[in-house]
Amino acid sequence: MIKKGIILAGGMGTRMSPLTKAVNKQLLPIYDKPLIFYPLSILMLSKIKDILIIVNKGQLEQYKRLIPNGKNLGIKITYIEQDKPRGLPDAFILGKDFIKNESVALILGDNFFYGQSLSKMLFDCVKIKTGAKIILHKVINPENFGVALTRGKKIISIKEKPKKFLSDLAITGLYFFDNKVVKYASKLKPSKRKELEIVDLLNEYRKKNKLTAEFIGRGGAWLDTGSIEDFYKTSNFVSAIENQQGLKIACLEEIAMLNKWIKKKEVNNAIKFYGNCEYSKYLKKLI
Ligand code: DAU
Repeated sequence: MIKKGIILAGGMGTRMSPLTKAVNKQLLPIYDKPLIFYPLSILMLSKIKDILIIVNKGQLEQYKRLIPNGKNLGIKITYIEQDKPRGLPDAFILGKDFIKNESVALILGDNFFYGQSLSKMLFDCVKIKTGAKIILHKVINPENFGVALTRGKKIISIKEKPKKFLSDLAITGLYFFDNKVVKYASKLKPSKRKELEIVDLLNEYRKKNKLTAEFIGRGGAWLDTGSIEDFYKTSNFVSAIENQQGLKIACLEEIAMLNKWIKKKEVNNAIKFYGNCEYSKYLKKLI
């Protein structure tokens, strides 16, 4: 069972400047909460309680003001700074001491997932004992993502942002790895764009027949919030769902309560912490 998770929440956010000049992208709002709440909620739905958040050098205080530690959520949050965006596999180099000899999940700080069967799929993913697992989702613009050619759950080939069509199945920013990931990541060499590439890391597993896939089907949504347009699209999606159902997506305290990690007392602490706002009103209703 995977018990540790990393959120990679650094990056320069250059595509969203000037919004990201003073504030990290993952702290900007997706409708009524900061973006970081959404990937954090996914790890919590996977029942992962030990979480490392990797942030940009100089931006740690911004994050700590929002999520000082995991106490009110019944989880443990550790932070580490990345001095420059060296690529996604850097998470396992920076996170080596956090991971120790365990398996680990990685989620990119700008990825949004939603869907009815999501919790069940996540629960299956954290069960992997060896190898690596990626989550695939059909898209109309595969050239903007890492993509995978599959036969059933087996991965035949993967490529980062292919110019020539390979597949319309995008590799989402949620990955599950056994402990070999630490060793494989440390051996990677930077690509032409001078970054360590996640596909190179995944290829290490694929070559050994140790890479499998899960799929987010039609009933599920995956949105990458890489651009300003994506931010608004995702915000509209959250607003539509929340205002129709009266249920919040990625309410962290609600998930912690459902997981039985916290009780009324912690929710009351959270209400005090957030202050008089819609989010607190929702928390009040929960208890
Ligand atoms: O969103 C899914 C896609 O994410 C995958 O399909 C691609 O295979 C994968 O390479 C990645 O592509 P992006 O172009 O979206 O990656 P980006 O460089 O935008 O980084 C994603 C997030 O990770 C973003 O929130 C910033 C953060 N990041 C990125 C790098 C390279 C870091 O914190 N540190 C880094 O060194």
